Amino acid sequence: MPRTEFLATGYYVPERVVTNAELETYMDTSDEWIRQRSGIEERRWCAEGEGGSDMAKVATERALEKAGMVADEIDCIVVATISPDYFFPGTGVFLQRKLGLKNVPCLDVRNQCTGFLYGLEVADAFIRAGQYRRVLLVGTEIHSTGLQVNTEGRDTAVLFGDGAGVAILGPTEDPDRGVLAVRTHADGEHAEKLWAPAPACIRNPFISKEDIDAGLARPYMEGREVFKHAVTRMPESIEEVLAEAGHGIDEVDLVIPHQANLRISEMVQRRLGLSDDRIFNNIMRYGNTTAATIPIALSEAIDQGRVERGDLLAFTAFGSGFTWGAALIRW
Ligand SMILES: CC(C)(COP(=O)(O)OP(=O)(O)OC[C@H]1O[C@@H](n2cnc3c(N)ncnc32)[C@H](O)[C@@H]1OP(=O)(O)O)[C@@H](O)C(=O)NCCC(=O)NCCS
Repeated sequence: MPRTEFLATGYYVPERVVTNAELETYMDTSDEWIRQRSGIEERRWCAEGEGGSDMAKVATERALEKAGMVADEIDCIVVATISPDYFFPGTGVFLQRKLGLKNVPCLDVRNQCTGFLYGLEVADAFIRAGQYRRVLLVGTEIHSTGLQVNTEGRDTAVLFGDGAGVAILGPTEDPDRGVLAVRTHADGEHAEKLWAPAPACIRNPFISKEDIDAGLARPYMEGREVFKHAVTRMPESIEEVLAEAGHGIDEVDLVIPHQANLRISEMVQRRLGLSDDRIFNNIMRYGNTTAATIPIALSEAIDQGRVERGDLLAFTAFGSGFTWGAALIRW
């Protein structure tokens, strides 16, 4: 059975930079509070009419160019997003159309901050089974249009940002390279600890003015509970994929954690005993872009020369659901 290798990556973030100082003009918050609690200094917000599929298209074009490929060579699209362009159909078909692709399957994955890892698990299985040879795996999110940008919504409004990252995946016959292990988990007991109660088809009508006025359409988060679980599950899941692949943490060259909060990443780093050069963080500039954080960070790490062929990389994520997981990749 072949393994799955990363052929190329790409990312795109909107041009508009929103600093903590700008947020201070919309709500009762402060640059100091945001930096201290989350490490975030600024994030990007999309332009009017810009969708997750538009951002993913640009990120894909950048990855295709690096891979020396054309869009027609992609034979499957997997899109991880919790902020789809429309309620239905999924973002994958809009991306397919914008890339000028015809008749390739488009799978939308809805696993929040762990979406990219769930997508990777599926894409890896497709490729190893010989089902598809060139899978476009996408994480793309537009949060700025769904946040409540005032004091009531400040606990989440300051944390999230917009952006897209992609990876083009394909088979390699080298048994020592590519995705060595990927594992995902979930515990629905905690579903309401980080969620958006509306719009919801379980309600009739699925959205009303009253729902919006009551704040049901904005994210609700029990921040401390999320923090507590994240700092346990992320290191634990890295240990799990390391054990599965028969490697130790000392062999890992770079850990790319989901960018939820710099304090979470710092605790993961401490628990795994990693020096600063063995973990990658960019939340300071982009905030939490949910399913897009890992592919954006991976692309930036590559661009900065922090990933070389033969390196052992570990990804890990935790988020709403709760869902979490990790992957181990020999570059
Ligand atoms: C959200 C988080 C930063 C909040 O930090 P915290 O220390 O737990 O803060 P609390 O929620 O206890 O709130 C402390 C105070 O700050 C206030 N506050 C909340 N958001 C604020 C903001 N943006 N600016 C200023 N004050 C704020 C609260 O209202 C509260 O005030 P009170 O004490 O008068 O009631 C932290 O819990 C966290 O990072 N959790 C994980 C979040 C995450 O990663 N989510 C995504 C997962 S994928």
